[in-house]
Amino acid sequence: MKIAVFNNKPYVERFFYRANAGFEYELTFFDERLCNESVELAAGSEAVCIFVNDVADGPVLTRLSELGVRLIALRCAGFNNVDLEAAEKLQMCVVRVPAYSPYAVAEHTVGLMLALNRRIHLAHSRVREANFSLEGLMGFDLHGTPAGVIGTGKIGEIVLQILHGFGCELFAYDPNPNPVCQQLGVRYVTLEEIYKKCYIISLHCPLMPQTHHLINAKAIEQMQDCVMLINTSRGALIDTRAVIDGLKSGRIGYLGLDVYEEEGDLFFEDLSNKIIQDDVFARLLMFPNVIVTGHQAFFTHNAVEAIAETTLANISAYEKGQCQNVVTCREYKKH
Ligand code: NAI
Repeated sequence: MKIAVFNNKPYVERFFYRANAGFEYELTFFDERLCNESVELAAGSEAVCIFVNDVADGPVLTRLSELGVRLIALRCAGFNNVDLEAAEKLQMCVVRVPAYSPYAVAEHTVGLMLALNRRIHLAHSRVREANFSLEGLMGFDLHGTPAGVIGTGKIGEIVLQILHGFGCELFAYDPNPNPVCQQLGVRYVTLEEIYKKCYIISLHCPLMPQTHHLINAKAIEQMQDCVMLINTSRGALIDTRAVIDGLKSGRIGYLGLDVYEEEGDLFFEDLSNKIIQDDVFARLLMFPNVIVTGHQAFFTHNAVEAIAETTLANISAYEKGQCQNVVTCREYKKH
């Protein structure tokens, strides 16, 4: 089968070539992101392999279908960038990699918490300039700190396990409580209680219409002063402008982001010689109590290897008529 792999990077190609030894698919790698302008590149392929910021909306899927593409193989867990209703109407199959290394994302999440709390990013630059003053670097003990996780699936569960190890007081919100978390002593409460009680809030739910801008001005208003907010899930869970207002007022004392709602035009590219046109993003970078990483939480060799292997296994299962890891509208709506 011919597969068009969009949004290619050297590490994608390396790991997919290696995993393909067991499958021998005809892989064509394109640096372009899948979108209206690049969709023609898929001509002649039966499957397209895409990542988080590729655009698989109605018009793109329609054109892919006309070009003969039958399968959309996401090499990621999230599927908010695919119009599932359009795919269903076009009888296209959408598969994803539901779990590759939840540890990778959870560990990066906690890394952001530790760095923000102890101001490691600031301390590192200071020491390199022979400034050994501790002024402004004071943190707090995580032990005993109330921490709340929104979305306790695979990643949220591991974040809670790690925070349990630190001795945090644990709270969670999820419409489907996770028994492993309950056994750990995590208290499931309402979103409002999370906002009211927790000094650390970490987002691990999927982006869906119901969770779009979950963290908005009204939510921030209910939070503790100087709260730490972490988002390694999807950018649009957060209303960035409201968060900037929260940072300016001091309501948000620490912000750790691995995702950003307009990241499609920024992340995964070297723009160091370009002028950033996104003023909202540029404003975020001005705060000393904000750390932004460029959607790298998943990026361990364990995870990238698992992504390549599962993606090709998904394609192989599809070929054999035994589809696995399919994303359907029904699954999307059931949350
Ligand atoms: P999962 O599907 O195992 O867990 C998601 C949890 O969110 C489920 O327990 C579900 O019940 C819960 N949920 C659904 N609607 C909710 C709502 N309205 N409020 C609160 N919780 C809700 O997903 P997993 O593997 O834990 O991943 C979570 C998210 O992390 C993904 O949706 C993806 O967007 C993001 N992600 C980010 C990565 C990165 O590199 N930054 C890499 C992988 C995933």
